Amino acid sequence: MKPKVYVTRRVPDLGLDMVLKTCEAEVWEGELPVPRDLLLEKVRDINGLYCLLTDRVDEALLDAAPNLRVVSNYAVGYNNIAVDVCTARGIPVGNTPGVLTDTTADFAFALLMAAARRIVEGARYVANGKWRTWGPKLLRGVDVYGGTLGIVGFGRIGQAVARRARGFDMRVLYYDPYAEGLDPDVADAVDLEMLLSQSDFVSIHVPLSDETHHLIGEAELAQMKSTAVLVNTARGPVVDPDALLRALQTQVIAAAALDVTEPEPLPPDHPLVSLPNCIVCPHIASASIATRNKMAVIAAENLLAGLEGRHLPHCVNPEVYPLRW
Ligand code: NAP
Ligand code: GLV
Ligand code: GLV
Repeated sequence: MKPKVYVTRRVPDLGLDMVLKTCEAEVWEGELPVPRDLLLEKVRDINGLYCLLTDRVDEALLDAAPNLRVVSNYAVGYNNIAVDVCTARGIPVGNTPGVLTDTTADFAFALLMAAARRIVEGARYVANGKWRTWGPKLLRGVDVYGGTLGIVGFGRIGQAVARRARGFDMRVLYYDPYAEGLDPDVADAVDLEMLLSQSDFVSIHVPLSDETHHLIGEAELAQMKSTAVLVNTARGPVVDPDALLRALQTQVIAAAALDVTEPEPLPPDHPLVSLPNCIVCPHIASASIATRNKMAVIAAENLLAGLEGRHLPHCVNPEVYPLRW
């Protein structure tokens, strides 16, 4: 008998076809996330869940899914999943690391440059019919090249951003209490206070956890340079949005560029959206066609491995295995 699977959104065919071929799979065809009540109903008989970062996989969902053998997230971040509860129940959780690293780093750097050189403001200026002449002081920003970049969370994506910064002759600092043995020619390890006070650009690349929730709040923003730019492509709640709004309104920092926000989606009438010195994008840092295809395949491979009782190629809770095998 084919294993039963629920797929919580139509993911790219390259991965979805792998699931449809081997499983009795149902796919949620809505453009928006599956309503919670329906999701709890849909997981009742399933053996595998192929889910997105917009789905909360918590204890209540796991209680509702007694036959669940694997949870496969179509993302590298897995803060939407109660991993400890999955582990306690012997359920491996898969994610999609690596394939989106450079795509996400490209986007972080694009946001950094767009904010520094006021590209979105410039495009709006033209679209609003304000462009009348070349101006000696028109839309002046700050130089990216030669600046100091501070990277918070020096994992796969943080290090990929550092590599890009090298081409811009930047000095790179990083804060990551867990990163060890990294080449000091690439970047200098510093504490968070030093990073914030010395950087012209601060880019966030930590996972969201209890420890990193509102890691950047009022006190941290106050430590930054008044000319500094904050970039967040990690998870919205790593930055306190109220503190950020006040810091941008009162020029505590110069600008911010956010691919992720708290909440998501950020409503169009949220004050951060209309601030001239804030760029808000709809969580698209990994959204290249090639990368989204690769993510779909990896998430399918994780799902199928879990259903067949094999180790997941990318498992976030490998400590689950001694409990089952
Ligand atoms: P990663 O390789 O695990 O890197 C995260 C780094 O942050 C690790 O070195 C980690 O150390 C470190 N870290 C953890 N807690 C920290 C703390 N309190 N302070 C400083 N550093 C800390 O993950 P990644 O692949 O680079 O992805 C990073 C995050 O980016 C993901 O978790 C996801 O939320 C986000 N992301 C967003 C998008 C998007 O579309 N906007 C796309 C991809 C990823 P340890 O490994 O030792 O814990
Ligand atoms: C996207 O945000 C991811 O975590 O893959
Ligand atoms: C600007 O376009 C210049 O030529 O300096």
